[in-house]
Amino acid sequence: MRKPLVMGNWKLNGTKQTVKELIGAFAEAANKAGDKIEVAICSPAVFIPLVEGAAAGSKLQYGSEDCDIHTQGAYTGENSPTQFKEFGCKYAIVGHSERRGYHKESNEYVAQKFKSAQDNGLIPVLCIGESESEFEQKKTMDICKAELKAVIDLCGIAAFEKAVIAYEPIWAIGTGKTATPEIAQDVHHQIREYLKSFDAAVADKVQILYGGSCNAKTAPELFGQPDIDGGLIGGASLKVADFTSIIETAAKL
Ligand code: PGA
Repeated sequence: MRKPLVMGNWKLNGTKQTVKELIGAFAEAANKAGDKIEVAICSPAVFIPLVEGAAAGSKLQYGSEDCDIHTQGAYTGENSPTQFKEFGCKYAIVGHSERRGYHKESNEYVAQKFKSAQDNGLIPVLCIGESESEFEQKKTMDICKAELKAVIDLCGIAAFEKAVIAYEPIWAIGTGKTATPEIAQDVHHQIREYLKSFDAAVADKVQILYGGSCNAKTAPELFGQPDIDGGLIGGASLKVADFTSIIETAAKL
């Protein structure tokens, strides 16, 4: 039985004040939800020490939105997985479509980030998903398989024993256009089938989150699908009522 995971992705948002308010509320909601689910927030790197303090002693976990492939050195502006680990991070998102798009990160580069995060004790959250035109051309699985294969080639299928996958159709991110539960379930199922072709036990165990305009209203039906193990939540993780309600939805599964 896979544990549902509800993860927020704040992107480039927040202030010292909102971090305190949001983390305080989410830590309380995570404690209330108990051990039935996992709850985490991935914040801008600069806020991680504040998140660490505000989440201390609670069940709320946290992580980074990205991480570099190196652990130290002359890489101006980057943050390393060892640094995130030192501040208590559990997760590192890698390969978010905003990084693949705006920062031209290739599948192979994302795989290196995945490896670096995992080698240094973080759980990588690998984001995969197709653009609107790729969706219309029915290329969803070609894109997802290529993004997964780059990681399998570099790290091996067993690496997914300690990783999370987030299927995020790019056309649904921040647009208000959530994939229907049927579309999302179908893709999640095919992702699991693809992983099964390498290792059935790993495929069965790995949490596959849905992301893309997932909110308090859409979460119940999405999370009710057999291959959807929770959500990667952008906009709604910046609102106390919405994210708390998503946590409660997952806790009822
Ligand atoms: P959204 O973002 O929930 O605002 O669509 C999700 C994500 O990009 O992780």
